[in-house]
Amino acid sequence: MRVPIIAGNWKMHKTAGEAVDLVRELAGLVAGIRGVEIAVCPPFTVLAAVAEQLQALGGGIALGAQNMYWENEGAFTGEIAPGMLRDTGCRYVILGHSERRQYFGETDTQVNKKVHAALAHGLTPIVCVGERLEEREAGTTEDVVRGQVQGSLAGLTGRQAAGLVVAYEPVWAIGTGRTASASDAQQVNGFIRELLRGMFGEEASRAVRIQYGGSVKPDNAAELMAQPDIDGALVGGASLQAGSFAGIIKNTV
Ligand code: G3P
Repeated sequence: MRVPIIAGNWKMHKTAGEAVDLVRELAGLVAGIRGVEIAVCPPFTVLAAVAEQLQALGGGIALGAQNMYWENEGAFTGEIAPGMLRDTGCRYVILGHSERRQYFGETDTQVNKKVHAALAHGLTPIVCVGERLEEREAGTTEDVVRGQVQGSLAGLTGRQAAGLVVAYEPVWAIGTGRTASASDAQQVNGFIRELLRGMFGEEASRAVRIQYGGSVKPDNAAELMAQPDIDGALVGGASLQAGSFAGIIKNTV
């Protein structure tokens, strides 16, 4: 049985004070909920403050980052190394988010380097894939997702693949209030699992957790999470408030 993972991608939001207040309130709301893994992925500037607060709260909520570079260290102004994330207490790192691909030109080759580097440092990548609206309308969703999965995950062993989290986030559903229907999301998540089976074998494909992301809210979470190949959610807007994020978590289990 795969334990679902609900991760909050805070994107470029929250000061240190706001971040600490948010996780403190969240911890109170989700205390005692079992059967789901919870992670928050704040901006780099507040990772340390959130890490300290999470530790003080007892460690029930994991920490993740939203990006990283693949080199260990060096003259790469503005970049953050995998070891730095580990050192700050991160367990997860979101890689290849569509906003990184769209606004910062990240390619599957770059995402692939990051995935390998994250794994080498004991971080669990949350690897994002998903089609844009025009690709969906052109009927090329599966081709796009196949290319992203194959490119981003090239060269991994079955064992490495088994520990991954993959997030299917159709770009047209991100921040738009327009969620993929549960059956559309299940169809693509199932397709991804099938792809992973071909790439890494049956055992690994059964173990990988595949999230859905894109306008997940408390009131649509239950139906999405009930799908056989949806193992959690990557949540943007609704993760910025403790009440709505906790509502999604509650409706997952
Ligand atoms: O990574 C999460 C994300 O892109 C979805 O954002 O605001 O639609 O939940 P949102």
